[in-house]
Amino acid sequence: MSKVIVSPSLLSCDFLNIEREIKILNKIENIWYHLDIMDGHFVPNLTFGHPIIAKIASIAKHPLDAHLMVTNPEFYFETLAKNKIHNLTFHYEACKNEQQAKAMIEQAKKYYPSVGISIRPKTDLQTIPMAVLEKINLFLLMSVEPGFGGQSFLPEAFDKLKELNKIRQERKLNFSIQIDGGISEINAKQLTALGVDNFVAGSFVFRVENNNYQKKINQLRE
Ligand code: DX5
Ligand code: ZN
Repeated sequence: MSKVIVSPSLLSCDFLNIEREIKILNKIENIWYHLDIMDGHFVPNLTFGHPIIAKIASIAKHPLDAHLMVTNPEFYFETLAKNKIHNLTFHYEACKNEQQAKAMIEQAKKYYPSVGISIRPKTDLQTIPMAVLEKINLFLLMSVEPGFGGQSFLPEAFDKLKELNKIRQERKLNFSIQIDGGISEINAKQLTALGVDNFVAGSFVFRVENNNYQKKINQLRE
């Protein structure tokens, strides 16, 4: 079984029973809790914010992983701190330019052990400057258009992943590669072979009978 980290996206969990959901996940090894934070502006959808995240953090036994799909990521850096958030990712499209992106990464690093950047499926990898790739701890490759859970995996993500992994190897960069959107047992093995270290999976993990999340998570690691 691979050592890949699985980050169940709580967007697909049962919000009426979120405490139960977290407690089931607490018993599973080597996972993060993926928090999809949307603002109804950077993406059309709106999810949850600070009060809900604080409640999740109060009972979570594993690291939290915040994926900011917002126009103003800087607002969240300080205000989300102290919530057991291990990794915080924001979108490169939310940065004005390279200088601002680098400054934002430095700023976020004051609060979080790991800082990531992400890009929408339509954004070219070549738009990310090398100086930015050198600074990040994690690259979140979107394999669906951000905004909604339960979408189908976009096959063009395979080529992007190959390109990203090639850059990482050639430049000897240290960031881990996380992939998010339409992940299931159908594509996991191939993605692991292409260099993925961390799977975000929402509907695949939570749409299962008897809350057997362990079984689904294991399938991503086979
Ligand atoms: C989409 C989010 C994802 C989403 C994944 O904007 O970033 O994390 O919850 O859901 P699935 O795994 O169902 O595609
Ligand atoms: Zn996400």
